[in-house]
Amino acid sequence: MNRDVIIACDFPNRETTLAFLDRFQGGRKPFVKIGMELFYGAGPEIVREIKARGHRIFLDLKLHDIPNTVKKAMQVLSALDVDMVNVHAAGTVAMMRAALEGLTRADGTRPLLIAVTQLTSTSQEAMQQELLIGAGINETIVKYARNAQDAGLDGVVCSPLEAAMVKEACGSSFLTVTPGIRFADAAKDDQVRITTPARAREIGSDFIVVGRPITAADDPVAAYERCLEEFV
Ligand code: C5P
Repeated sequence: MNRDVIIACDFPNRETTLAFLDRFQGGRKPFVKIGMELFYGAGPEIVREIKARGHRIFLDLKLHDIPNTVKKAMQVLSALDVDMVNVHAAGTVAMMRAALEGLTRADGTRPLLIAVTQLTSTSQEAMQQELLIGAGINETIVKYARNAQDAGLDGVVCSPLEAAMVKEACGSSFLTVTPGIRFADAAKDDQVRITTPARAREIGSDFIVVGRPITAADDPVAAYERCLEEFV
């Protein structure tokens, strides 16, 4: 799998998103991430529109429900022709298998399917005190990644600092998709555990997900190109 930079299009509506993507005409078409806010606000049509412009799409909806419901939802997302989707590994191996089944089209093709292990917003304390998960957070992440691999998934979303651990447990071809990326000379915003694109490459990330360092830059195209230079 070739390394790539995925731009997190965390915009509230269609107009802002398309105006942002207009800036990239002529050059390389970025791989973009569409999250819940934009998908629920603008509807599936925004996916079709961005696909029609030639972008690859990671639809970040983090499905988590009973296996049959996830399977049916994945059939719908697969028909939208997205390139990558995700589920919560906490939904169990059976749910992840059902997701994969739903995603696979009649001709055998399907989008990449990635699992969220533990959200980076979940602390070890919350995991143990509220969710009554006794294991340590790293142990949980590795176990959930192994479950995802057993279910036939392609990889996991994790912090770049966890990517090495996941690669060690699941092998180098198991994909790691990593947010929490900042340039060495830039603001961290609300991210805590961050790395630069260059460091993410060294650690072995396959895809970095980059939002504000590109979307809030004075020159988003230059910031995107800088990410490509450091990472790809
Ligand atoms: O703006 P920034 O680069 O921080 O955006 C990172 C993107 O990755 C956002 O869309 C955020 O929701 C997402 N993300 C994250 N941490 C995770 C999972 C997803 O930052 N653990």
